[in-house]
Amino acid sequence: MTMTASTSDTLNLEKIVPEAQDFLPLLGTDYVELYVGNAKQAAHFYKTAFGFQSVAYSGLETGNKDKVSYVLQQDKIRLVLSSPLRAESPINEHIVKHGDGVKVVALWVDDATKAWEETTKRGAESFMEPTKSEDENGHVIQSGIHTYGETIHIFVERKNYNGTFLPGFKEWKSDYNPEPVGLKYIDHMVGNVGWGEMNKWVDFYAKVMGFAQIISFDDKDISTEYTALMSKVMSNGNGRIKFPINEPAEGRKKSQIEEYIDFYEGAGVQHIAVATDNIIETVTALQSRGVEFLYVPSTYYETVLDRVGEIDEDLEPLKELGILIDRDDEGYLLQIFTKPVLDRPTMFFEIIQRKGAQSFGKGNFKALFESIEREQELRGTL
Ligand code: FE2
Repeated sequence: MTMTASTSDTLNLEKIVPEAQDFLPLLGTDYVELYVGNAKQAAHFYKTAFGFQSVAYSGLETGNKDKVSYVLQQDKIRLVLSSPLRAESPINEHIVKHGDGVKVVALWVDDATKAWEETTKRGAESFMEPTKSEDENGHVIQSGIHTYGETIHIFVERKNYNGTFLPGFKEWKSDYNPEPVGLKYIDHMVGNVGWGEMNKWVDFYAKVMGFAQIISFDDKDISTEYTALMSKVMSNGNGRIKFPINEPAEGRKKSQIEEYIDFYEGAGVQHIAVATDNIIETVTALQSRGVEFLYVPSTYYETVLDRVGEIDEDLEPLKELGILIDRDDEGYLLQIFTKPVLDRPTMFFEIIQRKGAQSFGKGNFKALFESIEREQELRGTL
């Protein structure tokens, strides 16, 4: 493990991963864009259920005749929801094939031209050459490359821009502004790729993007009756961008990763993990607003403290909410997974609170499985 120990219970975003090469300095995630069937309604959902705030809008009223986009934000997390306005839009093809899903993982950079040059020089397939756009608030340079499936990375250079979002967008003022729920920033974003493709994409992030591998687990770590997967976690140099890459593994039943690949019809973003400073408050708020989470058997909590040791929180509210706990050498973490937020069983969110731990909760896979078995045992159906 290459990361230094955390001294406080908040995540230190400046973890240094020495093996990562910073020919591509990334300042953070700029935005995540989903292509969806009905952006107006999706925007309402993310405001109402997840507490995102209205930021910017682009569409017919701003002179965009092909596409409508709503930009929402909560602390550092920026979502863009886009829908096509015409049948012939390429966004339609994306939605027909994949359903709603993440199209763009945009990365904030100081120099989008250099980011494009450095990555395409190392073998990235270009999506968009460096392109300048401007309005009365300054100019932005954007460039883009392809990654797994039909997902793309856009590099956004906005140091000469002080508008609301990007040129072409206007401020979105709304009278409906539900309270935020305490989501702070994107902790990691996970990509699911097809059988035998994990190492190809791990190599892509290493060679093309200069990332380093910080963690791996294989099917012996994460194999249950219900799901089996292999995963490697790639991080950029300053640790602000972490991309675990999963591929399915053979299990006794169909892997959850395989199910994703089947329904998304290819590789894509599986989950967006968002950080909070108070997971009990955040998840209480999300549940009261109708966000649905994965079921955790109460038997999970019978043995969890034997596994993870002492924690600051009372166990009872964690149990009531279904929040999971895991520990590594550096501390512990609290996490919970939503059910898929789309019609297809594809993308979901993770809510995570780190208390020192820099890992991703792998101990919970086995613990969850064993607790399901204990429930079966109680019912005499094992
Ligand atoms: Fe995760």
